[in-house]
Amino acid sequence: MNPIAQELNTTIQEAGPHIFDMLSDMGKALFFPKGILSQSAEAKVKAHKINATIGIAKEGPSVLSLSSVTQYVTGIEPDEYLPYAPSFGIPALREQWKKDLYKKNPSLGSQTVSLPVVTSGITHGVSVISDMWVNSGDVIVLPDMFWGNYNMTFCVRNHAQLVHFKAYDDGLTRFNVDDFERVMREQAKKNDKLITVLNFPHNPSGYTLSKTEADRVAAILIDIAQEGTNVVAACDDAYFGLFFEEETSKESLFAKIAGKHPRLLAIKLDGATKEDYVWGFRTGFVTYGIAADTNIEGVYEALEKKTAGCIRGNISNASHLSQTILLKSMTDDNYDGLKQEKFNLLKSRADRLKVVLKDPKYADGFDVYPFNSGYFMCIRLKDVNAEKLRVHLLDNYGVGLISMGDKNIRVAFSCLEEKDVTTLFDIILSGINDLRKA
Ligand SMILES: Cc1ncc(COP(=O)(O)O)c(C=O)c1O
Repeated sequence: MNPIAQELNTTIQEAGPHIFDMLSDMGKALFFPKGILSQSAEAKVKAHKINATIGIAKEGPSVLSLSSVTQYVTGIEPDEYLPYAPSFGIPALREQWKKDLYKKNPSLGSQTVSLPVVTSGITHGVSVISDMWVNSGDVIVLPDMFWGNYNMTFCVRNHAQLVHFKAYDDGLTRFNVDDFERVMREQAKKNDKLITVLNFPHNPSGYTLSKTEADRVAAILIDIAQEGTNVVAACDDAYFGLFFEEETSKESLFAKIAGKHPRLLAIKLDGATKEDYVWGFRTGFVTYGIAADTNIEGVYEALEKKTAGCIRGNISNASHLSQTILLKSMTDDNYDGLKQEKFNLLKSRADRLKVVLKDPKYADGFDVYPFNSGYFMCIRLKDVNAEKLRVHLLDNYGVGLISMGDKNIRVAFSCLEEKDVTTLFDIILSGINDLRKA
């Protein structure tokens, strides 16, 4: 074991022994090297005469650049986007994201959380936490409807074992918290450590827990931890903020579970991708929330260093240009207003869907999964195959949707103009009737 990793492990073990036990073998071995990066960080502060440490090129006091590149970026100096960003992310952006976490999740109150570490999008955040916390064979409890990429990260890359609960009751009236509890408790009896990913707004169904349901999920996780199982609860908040209905919980589950028990590790995976409509920026964040009586800041720092070490060993660091633009956007006076405008637009689409889908004619062809948030909604087909319908709609009506399993179709209403909502569902119904006749 590298001595720096050993040092980080000792810090974590002393103040958070259960957190240490939850780390994967790779998580235990990870560290942030005191090599070129930290030597050049020191030089940046102290080497006023000559700084010949890092692998970039300079011309005078600035970064060397090609005007064929820089001509496309106005209002930002090349020094603010051409050099490497730190593996941890730009410090000012990390601080800003953290400040906003408290604003967006008031029930965090005085609970301390780590400084967010910047990843290259949320997918990368999922992969990093998978490396850090998932050993081969570890159980991850997920709903039976889930974002397919978890399979790639958790199973193909890290050999986790997925155990599913039923996301919805048969009548599609509500998210199935009962089955979540059943599966979690059953697995807690068989395993010392359990991992779960809580993704709300949910991809693919577009559901977010109500305030009461969210309280119940948090209570289940805390209770399982209290009874002696180590719980890694990752909140995938990719679509955070897009909550369209009154009774929907408007805060991340992270805020309800961070710091609630020494055996409960809360991880927040979020990012600007969907929240700030910058899909190609690839800017995500990993934030930890733990309970420890002593040296909690030391444990957070050690976890941040292991996370940044994991990033250093795979992509080294995330896009500097994206981070710089995001930081400027977040500190723009118009930021909140501009976000509200786009929120209103997406909400009006969700509202329109609700109205259109009240028409009883659709019940002949499909049921609608409850939805109240995010980018998506799903329908469950009564008697035709989802993939056959998808292909039929594409070939005969020029309509593109996603089929999921035999029965489900996912609609990204985030891409759907209000005026097209009725047309879309009428076409779906026509397609179903075509297949029934065939
Ligand atoms: C639930 C969920 N998590 C994470 C992501 C990935 O986000 P990013 O594009 O930032 O990697 C997505 C994107 O589709 C998603 O639906």
